[in-house]
Amino acid sequence: MPERFYITTAIHYVNDEPHIGHAFETVAADVLARYNRLFGRETFFLTGTDEHGQKLQDTAVAKGIPPKEYCDQIVTRFLDVWQKLNISYDNFIRTTEKRHIEVVRHILQKLFDAGEIYKSSYEGWYCKYEERFWTEKDLVEGNCPDCNRPVTKISEENYFFKMSQYQQWLVDYINQNPEFIKPEFRKNEVLGYLRQPLSDLCISRPKSRLSWGIELPFDKDYVCYVWFDALLNYITGPGYLSDPDAFKKWWPSVTHLIGKDIITTHAVYWPCMLKAAGIPVPKTIFAHGFWLMEDAKMSKSRGNVVKPLDIVAIRGGDAFRYFVIREMTMGQDASYSEDAFIQRYNSDLANDFGNLVSRLSKMIAGYTDGRLPEPATYNDEDVKIKLGAQELLPQVIDLVDSFKLNVALEQILQSIRALNRYVENNRPWDLHKQGNTERLNTVLYTASEGLRIAARLLFPVIPEKIEEFADIFNAPIDALTSNEAAEWGWMKPGTEVKPGVTLFPRIDKKEIKKVAEEKAKSEPEGIIELDDFKKLKLKVAEIFEAVKVEGADKLLKLQIDLGSEKRQIIAGIAEYYKPEELVGKKIVVLTNLKPAKIRGVESNGMLLAASKKNQLTLVTVDDDIPNGSSIG
Ligand code: MSP
Repeated sequence: MPERFYITTAIHYVNDEPHIGHAFETVAADVLARYNRLFGRETFFLTGTDEHGQKLQDTAVAKGIPPKEYCDQIVTRFLDVWQKLNISYDNFIRTTEKRHIEVVRHILQKLFDAGEIYKSSYEGWYCKYEERFWTEKDLVEGNCPDCNRPVTKISEENYFFKMSQYQQWLVDYINQNPEFIKPEFRKNEVLGYLRQPLSDLCISRPKSRLSWGIELPFDKDYVCYVWFDALLNYITGPGYLSDPDAFKKWWPSVTHLIGKDIITTHAVYWPCMLKAAGIPVPKTIFAHGFWLMEDAKMSKSRGNVVKPLDIVAIRGGDAFRYFVIREMTMGQDASYSEDAFIQRYNSDLANDFGNLVSRLSKMIAGYTDGRLPEPATYNDEDVKIKLGAQELLPQVIDLVDSFKLNVALEQILQSIRALNRYVENNRPWDLHKQGNTERLNTVLYTASEGLRIAARLLFPVIPEKIEEFADIFNAPIDALTSNEAAEWGWMKPGTEVKPGVTLFPRIDKKEIKKVAEEKAKSEPEGIIELDDFKKLKLKVAEIFEAVKVEGADKLLKLQIDLGSEKRQIIAGIAEYYKPEELVGKKIVVLTNLKPAKIRGVESNGMLLAASKKNQLTLVTVDDDIPNGSSIG
């Protein structure tokens, strides 16, 4: 029976455009899928979008369009980026599809009938943003421990899944199955989490609070909790209800590739849900690290900076794919910077690989009849190249199977660097001048065949460019990626070679800057996303003291009461207000502005005022709203 490989990404929320994190995860899953296909394994690759829940409903409401319509709009942006990045998914799932809704309702009913779900009243602290309840002791300074946003006390009836009863089973399962949670340190993190008593999982939301979700089959007043809904996509995709044979074929040989932030839902909730439903648990959950942006350079607010996906516009999807896979040690965090991108692209792709392709093809065209020559007897150096190329495939298989994609790439690049050295040492240009045709032919053949074997192994990472490479050596891509083509000697002497194609033109900083400037010009000025606005912490504050700042005609020093704290702010309003007029006014203050010194005096926040020419009026609120109330 052929080996099987089923890989998934997390399904992405559609309340924002795809960013480097989403793109990395999807590219990494694609690279794993493509390698497995190359290794001759039957492969199924599932990705998709998570379209229910509070955040989505809020975003759609703020934009004034029905949630489904909003999802339809954003999903096309994901699909567009995946196409540009050459993502070869076998199936794309949206949680608003009928096939998925049926699966969710089926599983809910099954668990309800089996007594795994019960109704109970519940009082707890709810974080609207994270869409989950917390207990009093979970809170950090009264806020959500995950996102630090304010929480609301909610008391209501809900449905609960009896997750707590699976705690010991899960701990034993994790301990007995070292392949289940990867990397190892994440496994230990999950086991650490499971040292605390596991609660039952609240799996419903009353429609009165949230209507955008899948209705519970046993109570029409509730919708399903978004995570309970979303996780089930992994069984909908391969056909849990629609095609049981296909489902049996792919499940449970599945690897879930996810980010480190969603390990608990995947490694705790998900196996318990499956266990309760009588479905085997996944083979592996691999949690990758995060892409961090290099300080303000990558911030949206600057607008004139090339974002990672803009790189696609400069050098195509392959350049982006190569960079993110080479630069991230799967499991660790990685940092994006334009310099690192340029450096990596120019050294590995333009110099080491691209140059060798172009030099070799030119030499074949110039020193032979334009066809791959017949090698004569191999000397020790040639044999070394041949052995190196033959060892590469098993090495890459090992590295890919252990998720060390960056090391696999480095290994392949090392073999390409060895080929460059081989060409330098053997100097085909001198052999040509000397008329040493036998040696010249052997060197050209050995270098070309070594390069072809390495290029074949780069196909999963840079598929478009390897297709161009295949064309130079006159091999259709399907042939180049077939099993037979793994062997040394597959490329036959006499093959016509197209000379001089530049696969990877070098990039310089000026070019990137130009693209950034053009992009900034084409974007409507000043448009921000809802999430940008949400970053502003605007609060009601009462002025209880106001004095002039010595030596500064325009400035007043204000002491303000924000309910839970008092602060000092400096405001340029002395021309418009006398200090005594201000005391007792309730104003609006931006509280999370970085503190600054104005004329040597500390200012911690900024008040809001309306101004036009010589007029200025403070933005004020009604007296009965308490100090510290949030605005937004
Ligand atoms: N919808 C849920 C997943 C449900 S899976 C049943 C979700 N969506 S998400 O859009 O917020 O994130 C999707 C994936 O992108 C997650 O695996 C997340 O970890 C990953 N990333 C989000 N930001 C990231 C980075 N900055 N870097 C790398 N991956 C990151 O969570």
